[in-house]
Amino acid sequence: MTLKEFFSEQQRLVDAALDRFTPNESEHPATIHRAMRHSLFAGGKRIRPILCIAAAAAVSDDAPAAIHAACSLEMIHTYSLIHDDLPALDNDDFRRGKPTCHKVFGEAMAILAGDALFTLAIQTLARIENADPARVVALICELSFASGTVDGMIGGQVTDIEGERQPPTPELLDSIHRAKTGALLRASVRMGGIAAGGDAAQIDALSRYGEHVGLAFQIVDDILDVEESSEALGKTAGKDAAQGKITFPAVYGLEKSREMALEQCRLSHEALSPFGERARRLHEIADLIVERKS
Ligand code: IPE
Ligand code: IPE
Ligand code: MG
Ligand code: MG
Ligand code: MG
Repeated sequence: MTLKEFFSEQQRLVDAALDRFTPNESEHPATIHRAMRHSLFAGGKRIRPILCIAAAAAVSDDAPAAIHAACSLEMIHTYSLIHDDLPALDNDDFRRGKPTCHKVFGEAMAILAGDALFTLAIQTLARIENADPARVVALICELSFASGTVDGMIGGQVTDIEGERQPPTPELLDSIHRAKTGALLRASVRMGGIAAGGDAAQIDALSRYGEHVGLAFQIVDDILDVEESSEALGKTAGKDAAQGKITFPAVYGLEKSREMALEQCRLSHEALSPFGERARRLHEIADLIVERKS
């Protein structure tokens, strides 16, 4: 199976599971469920869930909890995007090729839809059936720390917002990117490993892979914001410079940023050496992350 076929198949499985775990649009109060589903099913790449599933497969063929972990990551990620797009944050009208949640449902409902996806993510993990309770707690711990304020997604968003129009230093850039994007991507592979019952050495190797792939991912996101069109990205291009964001191109320029993404990709491959052929998909996804155009 090619990577493209693997991706489409996994996207289909993730979408079907997300649909099962998310209340129907007709469920009362209907507006919030429509708002959650608008953003959840707007056509995201599903990189985090697929990283989670591929990490689980690198450890074991038997990891039924991986799909729950995968969906919980996509719920948190989608919540972070809904809030990232709010007028008070990045103020974006388009996301995943569609009008943003607040454009369609209003700000109050978009804030609540983000909150609701957060609680749904925790619920999705807490409801894993027939699993060792210690493993479920470990998954909830990973997800909540990666989403939180200390070196996590929310902390990174705070530094990103406070950094607007500040001098773009390498130190500030590194701390923003590791937290706002890196933490959840690292958690994606760690959670896959945990769901599959990986030992400490395996989780450690996955962590290192996730850290490098996470940094590469946000470097490329910053480069695409400069180089690609809004149509290709499904979100407004050129916004980082307009808003004075601290990005890789702002600190290092495009050429050096590209080199740095490639270097992070190389390091991510290295981290996978303990898994041999079992990590084939993780190798391929690392390459895809730096080669992507959207
Ligand atoms: C975009 O993430 C936001 C960042 C963290 C850089 P993705 O590029 O994974 O967005 P979707 O999920 O495919 O829409
Ligand atoms: C967003 O980073 C990271 C999140 C935690 C959502 P960006 O602000 O760069 O994401 P885009 O470019 O709007 O997708
Ligand atoms: Mg932002
Ligand atoms: Mg943004
Ligand atoms: Mg961006």
